[in-house]
Amino acid sequence: MDLSEIVKEFAGAAKTDPNLLVGFETGDDAGVYRLTDDLALVQTVDYITPVVDDPFLFGQVAAANSISDVYAMGGRPLTAMNCCNFPARGIDKPSLRRILEGGFSKIKEAGATLVGGHTVRDDELKYGLSVTGLIDPKRIMTNAGARAGDHLVLTKPIGTGVIITGHRRGLAPEELLDRAVQWMATLNRVACETMLEFNPHACTDITGFGLSGHALGMAKASNVRLRLRFKDIPKYDESLELIAQGVATSVTASNLQVAQDFLTFSGRFSEEETWLIVDPQTSGGLFISLPAEEAPALVSRLRAQGNPIAAVVGEVVPADGKPGLEILK
Ligand code: CO
Ligand code: CO
Ligand code: CO
Repeated sequence: MDLSEIVKEFAGAAKTDPNLLVGFETGDDAGVYRLTDDLALVQTVDYITPVVDDPFLFGQVAAANSISDVYAMGGRPLTAMNCCNFPARGIDKPSLRRILEGGFSKIKEAGATLVGGHTVRDDELKYGLSVTGLIDPKRIMTNAGARAGDHLVLTKPIGTGVIITGHRRGLAPEELLDRAVQWMATLNRVACETMLEFNPHACTDITGFGLSGHALGMAKASNVRLRLRFKDIPKYDESLELIAQGVATSVTASNLQVAQDFLTFSGRFSEEETWLIVDPQTSGGLFISLPAEEAPALVSRLRAQGNPIAAVVGEVVPADGKPGLEILK
């Protein structure tokens, strides 16, 4: 069953509402619904299985991951609701409380208000948020706005998927996991607010489909080709070593399969390097397309705000008949 085929049927029906500004078609991070000429709602929901053992940190990462989809549209989070799929057995009440405390800490940091939630009994623990934000309808960062000539900026390192999986297998040291968790728990708030000081054309966040999948989402929606330089992409070098040791996530292979018809590698790439491009991310960074002349200034502003790794990673070129993603050595 291909779920996207089923969902498409509903997309057509939803289109008849003129106030639906961003719906299903562009594979965007969140839906946007116009309230007035100057104000629209941004709505998203996302929940994940534990990525770390510490319940508080898991709550933080899950919440940062959920809220990120509002930032990826250029929005400001307003309210949040807890989505709790909690097992009846096998986890104690204090741990569940710590998950919610972790989530709450990020909701507050985002300047949003927790307004409720919903709990379901589920054998496998999952937690996340539904988030509602506000946005100016004239400044929506959809996936469809990237233009040839733009430069591309990425704000967090890639490679968290194999770090999480590698840690479960005892192959990733605690120190490496801690570093990755710090990034995953970091809100994309500063990245979003700093981006909005400039004139960005498109934005998305890098999550489960990996850099390849989300970059391609932008390339297809914008009908352009994205050209990235591998050496400039922020990454955990240790992730390449983990991949070399045979670590792969449960979705790495399908991420590659989905991307491969539109993904090209120019130059000599090791197998590890190609797998890193499709590595699924949790609470990854913003991937921003903006005028070339503004890109270096955005990176310096991000650095000045305490982000040491934000970088210009590539450029947007015309589709020439077929949108796609090209990785250069
Ligand atoms: Co997203
Ligand atoms: Co999402
Ligand atoms: Co977006």
